[in-house]
Amino acid sequence: RNTPTTITLTGAGGQIGYAALFRIAAGDMLGPDRPVRLRLLEIPQGMKSAEGAAMELADCAFPLLEGVELSDDPNVAFDGANVALLVGSRPRGPGMERGDLLAANGAIFGPQGRAIGVHAADDVRVAVVGNPANTNALIAQRNAGDVPAERFTALTRLDHNRAVGLLAAQASRPVTAIEGITIWGNHSATQYPDLSHATIDGAPAIDVVGAEWGRGPYIERVAKRGAEIIEVRDGSSVASAANAAIEHVRDWVLGTPAARDGGPAPWTSAAIHSRGEYGVPEGLISSFPVRSAGGEWQIVEGLSVDEFSRGRIDASVAELVAEREAVEELGLV
Ligand code: NAI
Repeated sequence: RNTPTTITLTGAGGQIGYAALFRIAAGDMLGPDRPVRLRLLEIPQGMKSAEGAAMELADCAFPLLEGVELSDDPNVAFDGANVALLVGSRPRGPGMERGDLLAANGAIFGPQGRAIGVHAADDVRVAVVGNPANTNALIAQRNAGDVPAERFTALTRLDHNRAVGLLAAQASRPVTAIEGITIWGNHSATQYPDLSHATIDGAPAIDVVGAEWGRGPYIERVAKRGAEIIEVRDGSSVASAANAAIEHVRDWVLGTPAARDGGPAPWTSAAIHSRGEYGVPEGLISSFPVRSAGGEWQIVEGLSVDEFSRGRIDASVAELVAEREAVEELGLV
């Protein structure tokens, strides 16, 4: 039997936590050969709910689940963590200014980053789900001492999956017919779902659905899908967000699929540490087209970027730059 992987989940008593825990314990994230040990971090108000989830996990008798521990102390919860899913955060409330939002999250992600730096395993991989995800990931990374910056990522996988699903629906094709979509920039309304290199059954997607739609209503629909879900189900995206978090970590650890039919290997989207690729300032955690091999994300390089895409990428990246400046001014990083 393989050594268990320790997975720390923050916000474990919340909705996404509840949707993610059972799938992780069932092996959906790391496959059927890797036992998992769960560490659940909550604040005292969320502890009862996390305890309830832990009781139900026990009642599932998952063969891969080697243990569940709860804590409200980041120093305990991140001890030995190989994977950290940071879900609990302070999302923007009505009338909340950006400065207040970032300060509230700095108080969460600063200490969590420090605890990861001191206590997590050497191979720790961090995926931030809690919004504002990219900048929360940046705060954690800049507080984590000598943990390599590449180990801190934020989720844009839900945006990516939404972009695939909506394109497939428009073209009346299965999602498996679609490749080459990229989400660029921030996990926010400025994100850019880019069809420039996308294909449907191997044909340029833009030719199939038309540039007017693909560079117009489509972009808005993907970027505002979260709000659409809230309106229809009277609650935010939960199962799809948990699914995206599981797929992000799975691909990171186990790798993205190899090429088939002689074409380029498929890629996905993730917000990762920029080294200046595609003109994105170094050090930002921004969404790129990515593949994963050997447990590391690699940015797909050499894609052409036309004037329309350049403008969209730059606008979303400008928002990330402004958020970084704000957290620097607040002394959070
Ligand atoms: P929720 O409110 O049901 O759960 C959040 C949980 O986090 C609560 O139980 C709360 O007690 C806990 N928490 C708060 N501060 C904490 C801390 N410092 N340490 C540990 N736990 C803490 O919210 P839900 O629906 O689970 O969503 C969680 C976050 O995910 C939100 O910020 C939401 O905006 C974000 N989200 C991100 C998506 C993405 O694609 N990146 C998609 C959907 C939601």
